[in-house]
Amino acid sequence: MTVVLACPGNERTADALMERLGAVRGAAEFHRFPDGETLVRLGTNVRGDEAVIVATLNRPNERFIDVAFLAETAREYGARRVGLVAPYLAYMRQDVPFQPGEGVTSRYFAALLSRTVDWLVTVDPHLHRHRSLGEIYTIPARAARAAPAIARYIRQHHGAGVIVGPDIESKQWVAAVARDAGVPFTVLQKERLGDRNVRVSIPDVAAVQGRTPIVVDDIISTGSTMGRVAAHLRAIGAAPPVCIGIHAVLDAAAERSLREAGVAGLVTCNTIEHATNGIDIGEAIAAEVRAIAG
Ligand code: R5P
Repeated sequence: MTVVLACPGNERTADALMERLGAVRGAAEFHRFPDGETLVRLGTNVRGDEAVIVATLNRPNERFIDVAFLAETAREYGARRVGLVAPYLAYMRQDVPFQPGEGVTSRYFAALLSRTVDWLVTVDPHLHRHRSLGEIYTIPARAARAAPAIARYIRQHHGAGVIVGPDIESKQWVAAVARDAGVPFTVLQKERLGDRNVRVSIPDVAAVQGRTPIVVDDIISTGSTMGRVAAHLRAIGAAPPVCIGIHAVLDAAAERSLREAGVAGLVTCNTIEHATNGIDIGEAIAAEVRAIAG
């Protein structure tokens, strides 16, 4: 039997996954002690079962411990295998030391998770210098693709658009979405100068003329990248852009600054619960879980 367990805040995704898999929805209670420690209590028998933990990993420093304790507790009570569905997988961007002395946290986090669970399913991890999850994860790890769902959304709402990718890393998502949506695309160049400061090349006027620019990126965090692209588009006289992100890591301030930058719409996939979620990738996740967990 497959038992789906939710870490706090992941109940909706867990319910949807349970229904798609025809699995059982298990109960896991997280008690927070006054000193900040956590106690996990399983309310469902998992003996002999495949336990599937659902925990998206934005704010990973807080959330990893919940996953680790729930996985250990499930094993303690006899789970045959423990898998993790993390629709957003953190710590993928630091894939080399950018400055002397820096660690490569993508590798360290992969090593930690690989010791914690038996398999992993995520959605479009930020693969750049690591070409696949298998390069850093030692457990079976699969990535669901958001591109088909995003392309469907674009076909339905912005069929006369042009997709703009903010940097070379985005080309992998942008090209797939553009092909599936049947719209053109252009990719810019980006240089990161600081956490909230990026330099992005100016889009070619001809590439966006007469079409709605649709800026597509994997992660929206501080909103600096999308905001900079939106400002350039306004400056060259393009129509107000629609921004689509796979992972809504952004907080309220970032969302506000994007709206102030003049974006006409902001839509994300539901890998992280957020008010901008408008594209459901639940079926793509369920397909990868079926492939890995049977
Ligand atoms: C990095 O290259 C990613 O693909 C995103 O472009 C980046 O994480 C966006 O971050 P922010 O919203 O802080 O500019």
